Amino acid sequence: MKTYDIAIIPGDGVGKEISDEAVKILDAVAEKYSFNVKTETFGWGCDYYLKHGQMMPDDMLATLKDFDALFLGCVGDANKVPDHISLILILSIRKSFDQYVNLRPIKLYPGVETPIKSATPETVDMVVIRENTEGEYSSTGGIFKMGTPDAIATQTGIFTQKGCERIMRYAFDLARKRKKLGESPAGMVTNCTKSNALNYSMVFWDRVYDQVSRDYPDIKTDMALVDALTMWLVKNPDYFDVIVASNLFGDIITDLGAMLQGGMGFAAGGNINPEGEYPSMFEPIHGSAPKYEGQGVVNPVATIESIRMMMDHLGETQASRDIETALSQVLKEGKTKTRDMGGKHSTAEMGDAIKDAILQIEK
Ligand code: IPM
Ligand code: MG
Repeated sequence: MKTYDIAIIPGDGVGKEISDEAVKILDAVAEKYSFNVKTETFGWGCDYYLKHGQMMPDDMLATLKDFDALFLGCVGDANKVPDHISLILILSIRKSFDQYVNLRPIKLYPGVETPIKSATPETVDMVVIRENTEGEYSSTGGIFKMGTPDAIATQTGIFTQKGCERIMRYAFDLARKRKKLGESPAGMVTNCTKSNALNYSMVFWDRVYDQVSRDYPDIKTDMALVDALTMWLVKNPDYFDVIVASNLFGDIITDLGAMLQGGMGFAAGGNINPEGEYPSMFEPIHGSAPKYEGQGVVNPVATIESIRMMMDHLGETQASRDIETALSQVLKEGKTKTRDMGGKHSTAEMGDAIKDAILQIEK
């Protein structure tokens, strides 16, 4: 029987409680289908930093390298460690494992409320493909004459031909796949850009988009400046299919996307190394909410959705579909609701409801 080795990195704040739900769902699908899941948990994060002076051990990457996939809870607790230091944990995994695709589906499940009037399960179904290893997050720059009136800071975005090309290709391939599966009859990739103001990086980015698009005559091209895109996403969410964005722009528009799908409790992402040279990492995209730690009040749906994406990535298509069906059922029925949904159920109760629904789906 096939065994998947999955590393669990709970991180900080509510990371532990949502990781318990991740493991619960992994165990449920393993029980139902003929594969084993072996998890190993790593206690890296801000508490580790307070003890060891760093967020994770030096050999973290070597430790994680041979896992089939990684689950990351959430990292950061500004009362313990400044955010720009704690976030090194996640950013170094994304970059070192060349997880250059940040895959963020934006879908509104029936039964979930959203603060955005235009958003309905019929109108919200798109995917943001965010470049995840370079761009504005390249950590190049410096601070000169720090602390003096002449202080200068620079932060340079790095956009490479290879980096832009591979993310564009991934986006076009995905649009083609969605078109073929009937998930989106339109078959369109929107280029999220800002080439009117960023006259080097984004002009270059647009150029690569144009080059790549020529290989996909069956897929519609489209472009939107990132500022206008935030407006269109709210006004006409149904217009969008696949959106390709740089690291920073993708980060920003997916928080807006999370609101379209009902809030941060529903939004998940995959950090994908498509070639499979390194493990890919799946996570809810919400933060660690230290003030709710240990209270069992956060919504585990985003976490469970990230496990669904992990199954899909590992080729366990039926397990992924059943998680999706179970999520739909539980959310639509509306009998179990966590606090963000206006209910009183705990993190674990929501996880149990979804687990039970998975186990009840006929094989
Ligand atoms: C995200 C987060 C991260 C990012 C932070 C935690 C570094 O906001 O995954 O969207 O900016 O990529
Ligand atoms: Mg973000």
